[in-house]
Amino acid sequence: MSAETPAPSAVASPGPVWPQIQQVNPADLAHLDTYTLSDNARRIHIVVPQLTGHKHLNDHLQQWANRHQEDFLQPPTGHTGEEEVRARQTPSLTATWAITGISPTMIGFYLESTENPRGYTTTDRNLLWYNPTDGKIVSTNELLTDTAKAQLPGRVAKALTEQKVNFEEGRLVSSLEDGSPAIGFTARGELYIGFDSYSLATGYIGAPSVAIEIPDESWLTDAGKAARSASLTPDSAKVPTAPVTSELELAKRGEGPMVDCRKEKCVALTFDDGPSSHNTPKLLDTLAKQQVPATFFVLGTQVKAFPEIVARATEEGHEIGSHSWRHANLTALSGKALKKDLADANKAIKTVTGAAPTLLRPPYGAFNSDVAKAAKNADLALVMWDVDTLDWEHRKVKKTVEHGQEATDGSIVLMHDIHETTIKAVPKLIKELREEGFTFVTVSELLGETKPGKSYFRAPHHD
Ligand code: NI
Repeated sequence: MSAETPAPSAVASPGPVWPQIQQVNPADLAHLDTYTLSDNARRIHIVVPQLTGHKHLNDHLQQWANRHQEDFLQPPTGHTGEEEVRARQTPSLTATWAITGISPTMIGFYLESTENPRGYTTTDRNLLWYNPTDGKIVSTNELLTDTAKAQLPGRVAKALTEQKVNFEEGRLVSSLEDGSPAIGFTARGELYIGFDSYSLATGYIGAPSVAIEIPDESWLTDAGKAARSASLTPDSAKVPTAPVTSELELAKRGEGPMVDCRKEKCVALTFDDGPSSHNTPKLLDTLAKQQVPATFFVLGTQVKAFPEIVARATEEGHEIGSHSWRHANLTALSGKALKKDLADANKAIKTVTGAAPTLLRPPYGAFNSDVAKAAKNADLALVMWDVDTLDWEHRKVKKTVEHGQEATDGSIVLMHDIHETTIKAVPKLIKELREEGFTFVTVSELLGETKPGKSYFRAPHHD
């Protein structure tokens, strides 16, 4: 709760004394780090906070810093680059930060950049609320209920008038609607709203901020309540060192590297021969409920018949590989027919998912050097398996689970989503493997970068 350093805006903006956002002690936040862009020749110094282990957050904060630097260096229209460099000798760009709240589910990062291009100081404020438990950025619009949003323009207008700010009403309303002001809380628990320069008026009126008394709880959403309590009673004891995000959510966000299979015990569940109109949607329901990503090796003919199921699987974070066009034994096809088969399957998949597959599981696991060469030409790595559930043969739930449990760290497990018994076995298998400490990943997450034409049976063991 200490405020050892003055609020950035108190230093940067001359004129009226604007309300300040709460600042909590950043030293309380373990794993805090900073990212700095510094260019003394151009008078740029930007610092943003970073939180070790929270990649998604750190990327966001770095993007904010990079964007401000780029905008600053962008020559305004009518200037040539040379003139602009000269014109930029005096101007400067400084960005600094403060922590406005800390709790296991909400951390508030206040960012403020000040620039003086033509003698004026312009301020850009940002409040980045972050849930360190699920790894999601919370937009300022999510803090307030509709009740609050309906009353806010009137309240803010009143507060600005009291501060003798010459604002334009239309600009105020649209600024609040698009969620661009920094929204947090003052040390007294009022709602803090900080505007950017020129966001409320065409002319220069500084960068106003207001403090609005919150009438009752009906103004704040759950996220808003969490942000307020993180501001007023900061609690840094149980902030997770990395977000506890489900594997499926990570796969969906394309943040695979956050699951490091060199360190974690990973397994990839794979399903061949689908999609099946009846069984695959049930499997997708299970995977969504369990938040487990999987890899589907689909047949081109099935994709063409049930495109919406493949689209759903992609949408929900699963990986789609090719199982050929029509399940032919690829080793028996002529060169030309082989080439066409793989191309047709790739095309069918790309049409639905938007991306050509990078993985091929040859039907029956049958391949030779011709198949490998054709796969290489079609940009496909060959993906086999090291754990075979034999689900297609015995069609027994219990046996499917038992075989699946033979998985070791780095295993690729073979199943078929065309069999009802397999669909029934999956929740039990997930439960067993979770208890053994496995993390579920897609094949591409498991193997990392794959080489077209090369065959893979599993990921290497690690210590
Ligand atoms: Ni098959």
